[in-house]
Amino acid sequence: MRKLITAFFAMMVTVVAPSSAMAAGGHGAVLDEVHMNMNDKASLQNGAKLFVNYCLSCHSAAYSRYNRVAEDLDIPLALLKENMMFATDKEGDLMKSTMPEDDAREWFGIAPPDLTLVARVRKPNWLYTYLRGFYQDESSPSGWNNSLFENVAMPHVLYELQGVQRLVGKVEAAEAHAGDAHAAVTDGTNPITIVGDVKFELEHPGKLSPHEFDVAMTDLTAFLTYLAEPAQLQRKKIGVFTLAFLVILMGLSYLLKKEYWRDVH
Ligand code: HEC
Repeated sequence: MRKLITAFFAMMVTVVAPSSAMAAGGHGAVLDEVHMNMNDKASLQNGAKLFVNYCLSCHSAAYSRYNRVAEDLDIPLALLKENMMFATDKEGDLMKSTMPEDDAREWFGIAPPDLTLVARVRKPNWLYTYLRGFYQDESSPSGWNNSLFENVAMPHVLYELQGVQRLVGKVEAAEAHAGDAHAAVTDGTNPITIVGDVKFELEHPGKLSPHEFDVAMTDLTAFLTYLAEPAQLQRKKIGVFTLAFLVILMGLSYLLKKEYWRDVH
């Protein structure tokens, strides 16, 4: 019986252990660890709001439908229509960008990729680091660059929230705040932020503080992670239910076994 219980708990640990230990990716780049909570509906809702307001103009999430997102994230349909559906008025529609691909290619040199599955391709830590790594760079066509994605064609669309960062340089591995969700420190002048192993000076503050911006990017990363696998919210619930059922069943089976063997000895 004891062995059985040990085996059972070992199984529980493997099932329940967070999936944050996922491969880092990004060719050896230093990534910050994103601390998302996929059960936090408010966080996912905020991520969805950021996504439709700041990303959907260029990128599609063409394998998702508005009403599915609303249902999964407990967003009332009226609220969805009013605040999130700018490209269409049909709630069953796919989340498609209104930007024609040819125009996009002309403006950016490359069409913005569909983001439905980006969290599977790039992994959450990569996205979290990427979204915080934009900085001003006059030598690039858009005026922006990214510490994780060199010469990226995407402009810093969130600069009004984050503010404008200027690159200071790389930091030593010991100083890199990989794993630190809010690496903002103040050295008396402009705030310094460290993203991965790159140091920035926040020249013009945005609407959000560095810490608030990190939280917002955690929400956005969580939403993109949800988009890449919408069933994960239900799957985890079913998993917990199944394990609870097995615990009860194990208790009952044990009692039944005791009952059967009582008269044998
Ligand atoms: C003004 C148009 C525009 C907006 C708005 C925009 N992007 Fe982009 N994005 C691009 C372009 C263009 C690329 C391609 C960059 C390249 O390959 O150099 C890109 C690339 C990306 C990539 C990298 C994809 C990959 O795997 O190579 C991610 C992730 C991404 N965008 C996320 C976002 C998110 C999240 C938002 C909303 C906060 C957003 N983008 C808003 C234009 C945009």
